[in-house]
Amino acid sequence: MQRVALADFTTLKVGGTAELWEVEDETGLKEATEAPHKVIGGGSNLLVSDAGVTERVIRLGRSYNDVRSFEGQRDVWLGAATPLPGLVRRAQRAGLSGLEGLLGVPAVLGGAIAMNAGTRFGEMSDTLQEVELFVDGALERLPADALAFSYRHAELPEGGIVTRARLRFTESTPEAVQTRMATVDAARSGQPKVKSAGCAFKNPAGDSAGRIIDAAGLKGMRRGDAMVSFEHGNFILNLGAATAADVMELVTAVRHELAKVGADLELEWRLWGF
Ligand code: FAD
Ligand code: EPU
Repeated sequence: MQRVALADFTTLKVGGTAELWEVEDETGLKEATEAPHKVIGGGSNLLVSDAGVTERVIRLGRSYNDVRSFEGQRDVWLGAATPLPGLVRRAQRAGLSGLEGLLGVPAVLGGAIAMNAGTRFGEMSDTLQEVELFVDGALERLPADALAFSYRHAELPEGGIVTRARLRFTESTPEAVQTRMATVDAARSGQPKVKSAGCAFKNPAGDSAGRIIDAAGLKGMRRGDAMVSFEHGNFILNLGAATAADVMELVTAVRHELAKVGADLELEWRLWGF
């Protein structure tokens, strides 16, 4: 266990301190979960308060990060700390289709499952067959359909930590997968490259939160170093020295302005410590 600044573990680069428990096995999970806790993946969908969190923050260590090639294997168990970008790339090289819709999502596998990350070209639940979870002090396996996936949502058992997952790919060719990845990449070309936590709000049915924020004229709105991106209205950026308070004030101000045009958007980010 060590005390860390959570800003260093999130893509938005804001957030105060917490006890970080990096675990490598079931014994570690048992010990770490003996007190109130949270679990962090790639930290790419989190807004952590400047005060940090009082709970322990559990992070799956190297033994849950599978970087091996799975050439020739359509059905594969992978650790939940495996970074998605490398996984998407390895599947492409092996000519295995199923994950290419997730190109550009800076998650780890466990976080992508917990959020059912995706784009309109596919989501995490498309390939997921089974998960291994640490819940109530023990490991158990659940079929994917027990998680009742929907848009950016999975019904994980209360306090459950995804430790491994079994994915099933469709056989294709590296070239065909690459072609589909190019389409996904093109669809993301309007997204900013500056520090963010991806889209701040979920899309309402049949519309885009980015379009709504744009149409309301809120691009460039700013609190401290937190700013609504000019490139894509649903991205809130940390221009350098933003605090969590700046980001939260901006979210509140955006919502206030949206209310004036009758729009009410739900946050996609998970809030910690607010
Ligand atoms: P974290 O942010 O660390 O955690 C998110 C939630 O998952 C938390 O509640 C956490 O407790 C829980 N969690 C994490 N790991 C586990 C685990 N092992 N077991 C149980 N619960 C766990 N998202 C999309 O869906 N589509 C996109 O196109 C997309 N593009 C993005 C682009 C950028 C530049 C950025 C910064 C983010 C983007 N996101 C996108 C958002 C983000 O990548 C996803 O929400 C992703 O699923 C978060 O995964 P993570 O590993 O970073 O999880
Ligand atoms: N639009 C605007 N102005 C903007 C942004 C978008 O008018 O500032 C318009 C676009 O022109 C387009 C429509 O809104 O007509 C949709 O935009 P886009 O294609 O960028 O998709 P999105 O709905 O804004 C969703 C996901 C992204 C994902 C992309 C690519 C949500 C909340 N967002 O964005 O996911 O990468 O599709 O498929 O579902 C995330 O969840 O963090 C995320 C980045």
